[in-house]
Amino acid sequence: MQSFLTNIPVSSEIINLSKFGISGYSLVVKRDDLLHPFVSGNKFRKLKYNILAAHEQKHHTLLTFGGAYSNHIAAVAAAGKEFGFNTIGIIRGEELEMKILENPTLSFAKACGMKLHFISREAYKAKDDREFTNKLRNQFGEFYLLPEGGTNALAIKGCEEILEENGAIADYICVPVGTGGTMAGLVKASNESQKVLGFSALKGTFQSSEVAKYTSKTNFEIIDAYCFGGYGKIDIDLIRFINEFKEKTNIPLDPVYTGKMMYGIMDLLKKGYFKENSRIFAIHTGGLQGVAGMNLKLKNKNLPIIE
Ligand SMILES: Cc1ncc(COP(=O)(O)O)c(C=O)c1O
Repeated sequence: MQSFLTNIPVSSEIINLSKFGISGYSLVVKRDDLLHPFVSGNKFRKLKYNILAAHEQKHHTLLTFGGAYSNHIAAVAAAGKEFGFNTIGIIRGEELEMKILENPTLSFAKACGMKLHFISREAYKAKDDREFTNKLRNQFGEFYLLPEGGTNALAIKGCEEILEENGAIADYICVPVGTGGTMAGLVKASNESQKVLGFSALKGTFQSSEVAKYTSKTNFEIIDAYCFGGYGKIDIDLIRFINEFKEKTNIPLDPVYTGKMMYGIMDLLKKGYFKENSRIFAIHTGGLQGVAGMNLKLKNKNLPIIE
């Protein structure tokens, strides 16, 4: 287990910006999406030290929380299968229990052996309360707890490692932001001369306070100008961009996180936001398992799909 988790393959790709009508900058994409076929991107980084800790503490079961299309649920289920843990997913929304087969993320998690336990949206709000966790322990027995989205101190430690290869030479480090945990790791590992730019996948930039919990560095900014109206929301413009980006670079993007970040980077490049000749390092945090679920929704609405 140790060697698999530590000898990880890494790769970065230079984007030919002239294909997008842009010159005077360099853009490198860190392909963390290629770290593992199912435990991909920032999920691998966040789970690495947690899996090692669960193993050391002799736990047999991982329990975590997530929504219908959660990348984190899919990654924990796959990691459990790979590293020999039972997994339990507490899923937001009781109605989903009847729709597992229609939902690629939940079907995948189930096929990996994850026990899915559906609770109401109201009950889900207590997911971080000790009382609720104790109830779950009474119901399911002992487990290693991973919070929703996987952010905790060990996850941040794993995310700091994203910058180990090539990250030090960048002027800007770009990353999609959900809870802010991945960004916190990047800010911690960055030089203060670098700027870490977070593209929020949802409305608001409140994740700054989450970043500040883990580091006193202030060389970061979160913007929500490219959240496309909110979490999981997309439009035809974004779908077209994702398909165009894939065609020109052969790099797939997901619609919830990395697609929005890359759309934002290209737009900011065109608008002259970045200092001239700057080197931009964008982290591909994975999330590609979510494309299938999004495409089902798009097909139902007769909209173009993500290729
Ligand atoms: C693919 C992907 N990228 C980025 C993020 C954002 O990570 P964080 O919640 O650490 O900000 C997530 C979060 O779930 C994700 O699944």
